[in-house]
Amino acid sequence: MKLAVNVDHVATIRQARRTDEPDPVTAALIVEQSGAHGLVMHLRQDRRHIQLRDVELALKLIRIPVNLEMAATPEMIEIARSLVPHTVTLVPENPEEVTTEGGLNLSGNPDLYRKTVLDLRNRITEISMFIDPDPRQIRLSKDIGADSIEFHTGEYAAASDDQTRAGQLDRIRECAQLARQLGIGVRAGHGLTYLNVQPLTRIQEISEFSIGHSIVAQSVWIGLSHAVRKMLNLVCSRGESW
Ligand code: PXP
Repeated sequence: MKLAVNVDHVATIRQARRTDEPDPVTAALIVEQSGAHGLVMHLRQDRRHIQLRDVELALKLIRIPVNLEMAATPEMIEIARSLVPHTVTLVPENPEEVTTEGGLNLSGNPDLYRKTVLDLRNRITEISMFIDPDPRQIRLSKDIGADSIEFHTGEYAAASDDQTRAGQLDRIRECAQLARQLGIGVRAGHGLTYLNVQPLTRIQEISEFSIGHSIVAQSVWIGLSHAVRKMLNLVCSRGESW
């Protein structure tokens, strides 16, 4: 079982001030040094968090596989072809959304996705589709030529009672089994937290989890006290520590 860490939310904090900290590339190095198996960055068309420079630098500096999430647009295909991340995950993008709200609807425009896979094929090792756990979308992913899929786990994460959660878990398990039978790899992500990830880890067909928000949120709790004491030290020493 593998963990890939999404550092978009580090960039979100930086972009809130349009400054240079915290740098998601530094986060990428820490993610790698901490033993994560992969790094995830979503370069959105509106550049609301990750910037092109972040992806370029991360690809230069780190050795673990980088999974670039992106929309299937000519601009993004060009960027992926020139930067060559290990994996490209095609995701839906809605400018109004706070975060990716659901999986791709491949039946809406299968030719676009088929062509995008072809455009990326000779440059990108793994091409993945971010889809809901839905047999039709899994079969379409296979048909379109994807190497793997990533299940949007948002409905599982949002389940407010045990019965709904168990139903979503069964749905993801059955879909993961179908995908493996069809010979495509399986990842899962979105809304996964320290409280809800473990039942999913028992689904052997899922090889990797892609987790961002909860890890960055947890790092605030782990680091806040230390950060306050470090600043206290500067403020209260009246310049003596210079
Ligand atoms: N996988 C994909 C395709 C995503 O778009 C996101 C959110 O950016 C994630 C995983 C990670 O979701 P979260 O930040 O909720 O862990």
